Amino acid sequence: MTLLSNHTDPRILELRDNKTAARQGGGEERIQAQHQKGKMTARERLELMLDKGSFRELDIFVTHNCNDFGLDTQKYLGDGVVTGFGTVDGRLVYVYSQDFTVFGGSVSWTHAEKICKIMDMAMKNGAPILGINDSGGARIQEGVLSLAGYAEIFYRNVMASGVVPQISLIMGPCAGGAVYSPAITDFVIMVKNTSHMFVTGPDVVKTVTHEDVTFEDLGGAFVHASKSGVAHFAADNEEDALFIAQQLMSFLPGNNMEDPPLVASTDDPLRQDEELDTIVPDNPNKPYDMKMIIRSIVDDGQFLEVHEQWAQNVIVGFSRLGGRSVGIVAQQPAVLAGVLDVDASQKAARFVRFCDAFNIPLIVLEDVPGFMPGLHQEHGGIIRHGAKLLYAFSEATVPKLTVIVRKAYGGAYCVMNPRHLGADLVLAWPSAEIAVMGPEGAVNVIFRREIANAADPAARKAELVNDYRERFANPYVAAAKGFIDNVIEPHETRPRLINALEMLQNKRDKLPPKKHGNIPL
Ligand code: HXC
Repeated sequence: MTLLSNHTDPRILELRDNKTAARQGGGEERIQAQHQKGKMTARERLELMLDKGSFRELDIFVTHNCNDFGLDTQKYLGDGVVTGFGTVDGRLVYVYSQDFTVFGGSVSWTHAEKICKIMDMAMKNGAPILGINDSGGARIQEGVLSLAGYAEIFYRNVMASGVVPQISLIMGPCAGGAVYSPAITDFVIMVKNTSHMFVTGPDVVKTVTHEDVTFEDLGGAFVHASKSGVAHFAADNEEDALFIAQQLMSFLPGNNMEDPPLVASTDDPLRQDEELDTIVPDNPNKPYDMKMIIRSIVDDGQFLEVHEQWAQNVIVGFSRLGGRSVGIVAQQPAVLAGVLDVDASQKAARFVRFCDAFNIPLIVLEDVPGFMPGLHQEHGGIIRHGAKLLYAFSEATVPKLTVIVRKAYGGAYCVMNPRHLGADLVLAWPSAEIAVMGPEGAVNVIFRREIANAADPAARKAELVNDYRERFANPYVAAAKGFIDNVIEPHETRPRLINALEMLQNKRDKLPPKKHGNIPL
């Protein structure tokens, strides 16, 4: 908006002065310090994330009400958080951006009230909430008022969960209980080197557990994106983080009552890629890169991978097929043979539930040798965590398509969206093997005595393994029972899936009435 500059009305001049002061946040010196750390200011970030000129700020004149510890003489218009609404690629979003230059972006009661106001508006108007976090946590001078403010935000995070998408960008410190707001939101994007998340910082860790650890090693972007799974994305810098948020938004609807945006693509829906026919190695124990299959099938090879560095044995992320947003869940045979373990189960389950909440059809590309065996996994609760994935697929009512690419063994067959859990269409490649377990393991169990008593045990075993493979390690036994709807040539996969999504576009499905289920958390 351009200002008419020749006003002499003192009330208008005062208004302009106040707005200029508010935009200065904690002042030039602190802005410089922020820049020197490689960080943008709260407003610079919003400018970059939102469509040019679309931001409308709210509550710019709000100040805190605390008179303790000399705060009565330190008031900044806006109180350390910039809030309002704007558009991303023309679509409405509600935003808040914490201003580290004002009391280190710390959360006072009024700061929290501002955030809660835009959350309430987002819920009422059905638009996503994007929160940029850069804060020293609870405003220490305010005591319980600040804690109460946090709890008000957490409560709204929970109420908004599954109603409007919530995306958290972490662009500075995010410590103590403050981490639980991003943790409840759908996606957490961290910035390498300049953002940190932890419940207790390195000093407290040192005192309590005597461990020496740096900020980065305790709660940096790399750690949370690869070890804890707290962060879904680790961006190289702030611009990158804001770009990821924009990309993510392009796949999502504004709320749970809408469908995701349909994006026109020049990629032919009937395109067939002959290379797929030879991508799966003849040797079932040889790995290959499932991401090559994903990119070959989806529109323009575009795949926004979520949790790229964490639990890499399973792949989850967003693409489009025939212009429609889809959520892809696939095994990665190139990592741990694509086995399902604790982390992979949790990663996939949360993703499935997100897609289901926001009307995004699910595409499963399956090559799973089973659940990971071992003491570590059993004691880590693979039963509980594996059950989450089973639960998530079962309760999902969006269109659900499965392509069995190679292995579908044991309990993992049951979990990975088979027809029995409500898949709408199950296709298999000729390389599919569906059995209770791999041929070697199966033969060892059912023919142990026969092998031991054979004149040449090794030869007899090889014979039995071959026999088992021929009888069960193919898609036709399951296809004969109708558990697989069709066996297709790999190059047909893209047109088949697009056609299936069209067939399912009016799918209506409901769960039995209940207050809520009891997913094994
Ligand atoms: C009030 C705060 C503040 C806070 C920082 N500031 N944190 N003011 N409350 N929590 C102020 C500083 O006084 C300083 O003011 C300015 O912000 C910048 O802080 P610096 O320390 O100079 O910055 P830096 O060196 O970059 O260090 C950033 C920091 C550090 C790591 C975040 O400030 C810090 O450790 N802050 C305290 C963190 C903390 O313990 N918070 C409470 C956690 S418990 P001036 O005037 O000098 O610019 C919590 C509970 C939440 O959050 C519970 C929810 C359920």
